Amino acid sequence: MGDFDKIVNRVGTESMKWDGVDKLYGGEGLLPFWVADMDFKAPEAVLEALKKRVDHGIFGYPHKPASLDDAIINWLSRRYSFPVDQNEIVYTSGVVPAIYQIIQAFTKPKDKVIIQPPVYYPFFKVVTNGDRQLVENPLVYDGQHYKMDLDHLESIIDDQTKMIILCSPHNPVGRVWSKEELTRLAELCIKYNLLIIADEIHADLIFSGHTHTSIATLSEEMANRTFTCLAPSKTFNLAGIQASYVVIKNQSYKRKLEQQLGNEFLNMTNNFSSVAMEAAYRYGESWLEELLQYLENNVATVKQYIQEFMPKIKVVEPEGTYLLWLDCTDLQLSSMERKKWLRDSGKLALSHGIVFGKEGEAFERVNIACPKQTLVEGLERLKKAYDEKF
Ligand SMILES: Cc1ncc(COP(=O)(O)O)c(C=O)c1O
Repeated sequence: MGDFDKIVNRVGTESMKWDGVDKLYGGEGLLPFWVADMDFKAPEAVLEALKKRVDHGIFGYPHKPASLDDAIINWLSRRYSFPVDQNEIVYTSGVVPAIYQIIQAFTKPKDKVIIQPPVYYPFFKVVTNGDRQLVENPLVYDGQHYKMDLDHLESIIDDQTKMIILCSPHNPVGRVWSKEELTRLAELCIKYNLLIIADEIHADLIFSGHTHTSIATLSEEMANRTFTCLAPSKTFNLAGIQASYVVIKNQSYKRKLEQQLGNEFLNMTNNFSSVAMEAAYRYGESWLEELLQYLENNVATVKQYIQEFMPKIKVVEPEGTYLLWLDCTDLQLSSMERKKWLRDSGKLALSHGIVFGKEGEAFERVNIACPKQTLVEGLERLKKAYDEKF
């Protein structure tokens, strides 16, 4: 099974996280906890399947096998009671490109698309790049916990509002939206005839005591207006393989998206994506259960260490994802000052909260998907910088 304690050197492996870090942050010898991939090897079954595929030696134009559809259908049905048919899956080379193309196909220039910051930063550009109007419905933070502001959401919807992008679970604040919250959101979407892009890329990364609900499963009406974007890339650490898919129940929408992808010459995926995806969904479940345990232990380690040694920093309790959201309000540093301090004194590369929207200005996002030893080294660096300054 997974050897999550093992440190695998990623330097020199074309890793954005490790090889790109010093240049991007303008520092030297930085320890990276930023971009959302993991420092763990993918499950052995995935590696074996890829090796077998490489050994075959021919990498011609791909055709997605029905066995891949089956592996996905079983996964979604077993884990989320999400019933999906073969004709409801559209394969894409990444969730972000898929979201952009859905917006292009189903809205017109100047139409309004809602997002809920602080949120995964490409959500801003996928809307504005195509000349759609970005409308923000910020999450509400009470100093401990985040929720959606559904009253505000209702107040900003007008005739030009066509779509909402839901991040579920939510990156970066770590919320796993409850069925009740999603039901209220769904009622508004139906009432105002909004389409929903449900980015559920983190759906498999749920901590004990929480349950992921796919918003499309709430009712037939919701299923008919939802584009559920999924991928094994976060779950099994396969981001570089660019394997993803969209579940669309509404067959006319499905045809329209396929047409859009064809028109943009984006309907081709790569040989390795199907192989990796199928092996991960067929054989990766016990590895995932172990991973979740390991991540929960890492969360506990960070919480305990920060509470004990850096009381001015607050960890927002995560319900899922491997991204921890640190409330740094009490440090009383501007975003720029904090960025310099973390880089120069801490030798750390975290994701600065400001990139997720102005609501994230006083926060840092930490990727905890690494061996405990690496995590502890990061915490020790942070403590040293903290002790020097506070
Ligand atoms: C919410 C969310 N959506 C999408 C992505 C990226 O998806 P992809 O690499 O498939 O475009 C990420 C990566 O961190 C993410 O957090």
